[in-house]
Amino acid sequence: MSDAILETSGLTKEFRGFVAVNDVNLSVKRGTIHGLIGPNGAGKTTCFNLLTKFLPPTRGTIRYDGRDITGMKPAQVARLGLVRSFQISAVFPHLSVLENVRVALQRQRGGSFDFWRSDSILRSYDSRARELLDDVGLSTYANLTAGELPYGRKRALEIATTLALDPVMLLLDEPTAGMAHDDVDRIVALVKRVAVGRTVLLVEHNLKVVSGLCDTITVLARGSVLAEGDYATVARNPEVIAAYLGSEAPAMEAAHG
Ligand SMILES: Nc1ncnc2c1ncn2[C@@H]1O[C@H](COP(=O)(O)OP(=O)(O)OP(=O)(O)O)[C@@H](O)[C@H]1O
Ligand SMILES: [Mg+2]
Repeated sequence: MSDAILETSGLTKEFRGFVAVNDVNLSVKRGTIHGLIGPNGAGKTTCFNLLTKFLPPTRGTIRYDGRDITGMKPAQVARLGLVRSFQISAVFPHLSVLENVRVALQRQRGGSFDFWRSDSILRSYDSRARELLDDVGLSTYANLTAGELPYGRKRALEIATTLALDPVMLLLDEPTAGMAHDDVDRIVALVKRVAVGRTVLLVEHNLKVVSGLCDTITVLARGSVLAEGDYATVARNPEVIAAYLGSEAPAMEAAHG
């Protein structure tokens, strides 16, 4: 088994001549939490879209777990265990929290809703769904409808429905966006927990979250890789500081110190 679970080579995406992702060579080590950061418009979400095959690259290749996945469809790469958090997490607001996770499990196993499945199979979904809710700290919310959940808890439910797919590698795009402190801390703890035995690629603007979670960080700016390394290394890189200047340079130091 190779050390890298995900590798891109010369990954490039142009939108009508505008280069959103430019010759990116990314290597994500198996079992790590890898951060992808950079100013607004740097190309982070576009990278995610390329990696999960929501967008075809203009050039370059993507290898996942020893295979070339460049030409695959989103559902194929998801079946290989490379899963993005909101990919399947169209949370159904009128279903209960428990039912949402059960539906995700049913989808994963059967690929469709087989309502005629035996009681024992349904019960096994139920107990697995309760385990997953437990993992993300939502046990006490099991019978609430998803629509009634507070915002931060909805993201936890999204993560639970993602975990139902049994991902090998998880891509999270700004999991703490728009959250208050308490929720942020909870999501950080949750990401740490779900990262055990998995690989996580995380896009995140909150640099405190990044410094607390990520083993390796790749900094993108204007579509290109600007720097890479652990938090301390990238945070003191003058080019990185310059790219963040005016917006997040102070936050970067605060998170570091
Ligand atoms: N479908 C598209 N068509 C044209 N331009 C696009 C498209 N998607 C993204 N872009 C452009 O590509 C650039 C990178 O966008 P992207 O969303 O990947 O940035 P980001 O790093 O995720 O930013 P943010 O931190 O704001 O989420 C931006 O200039 C954006 O306007
Ligand atoms: Mg984005």
